[in-house]
Amino acid sequence: MSDSERKGEWPVEERRRQRERRAGERRRGADRRSKAVAEIQGERRSGQERRDTDRRTGRDRRNEAEWQPVPIELTASANFDAEMALIAAATDARTHARAAYSNFQVGAALETSDGQVIGGCNIENATYGLTLCAERVALVKALSDGHAVFTRMAIVADTGEPTPPCGPCRQLLWEYCGDIDIIVGNLNGPAGRYRLSSLLPMPFDARLLR
Ligand code: THU
Repeated sequence: MSDSERKGEWPVEERRRQRERRAGERRRGADRRSKAVAEIQGERRSGQERRDTDRRTGRDRRNEAEWQPVPIELTASANFDAEMALIAAATDARTHARAAYSNFQVGAALETSDGQVIGGCNIENATYGLTLCAERVALVKALSDGHAVFTRMAIVADTGEPTPPCGPCRQLLWEYCGDIDIIVGNLNGPAGRYRLSSLLPMPFDARLLR
């Protein structure tokens, strides 16, 4: 029996093997990390190209089937005139967009329960992160003017598929407008109508704070 074994220590040979095993693990970890970085850096495909291949390969697991806008049946809504007017107001608000960084102009129009319409456009900033979405601009304008009850919002962008509100906007709209109709459209007019509750299932809200 060696001295170290007598003292209850691991034999020298065993400690050497452990050191080597740990060094090997560290090397393999570093290899894996640099491979992942190389993969990311090699990924210089355009947004559309990336989305298309990712969807085909199953790498993009977002389910866009849910997102196909339900075509607006022109006769299906008693509110069609109001929806058209709201889309027109959103289209108009969009012309004021300050979107120098994304070049993606969005307009929104929020209708109050007494039929007033408040427009908003996206306002970007050189920090990027301070960007304000059109929906939120319309909402805070309306709230700060004292409006409190809302019926619907229209959102317009110059895209084939209409632009739905982003997650944070959904959350804020839910808080202050409740389950309003969201009319999405493009420069050709309205293209889909959603209830906000269908865009924000299982929402977190003040009821949960009680
Ligand atoms: N944007 C909106 O204003 N509303 C939306 O629903 C989606 C995105 C803006 C934010 C940013 O200025 C630009 O569009 C690109 O994301």
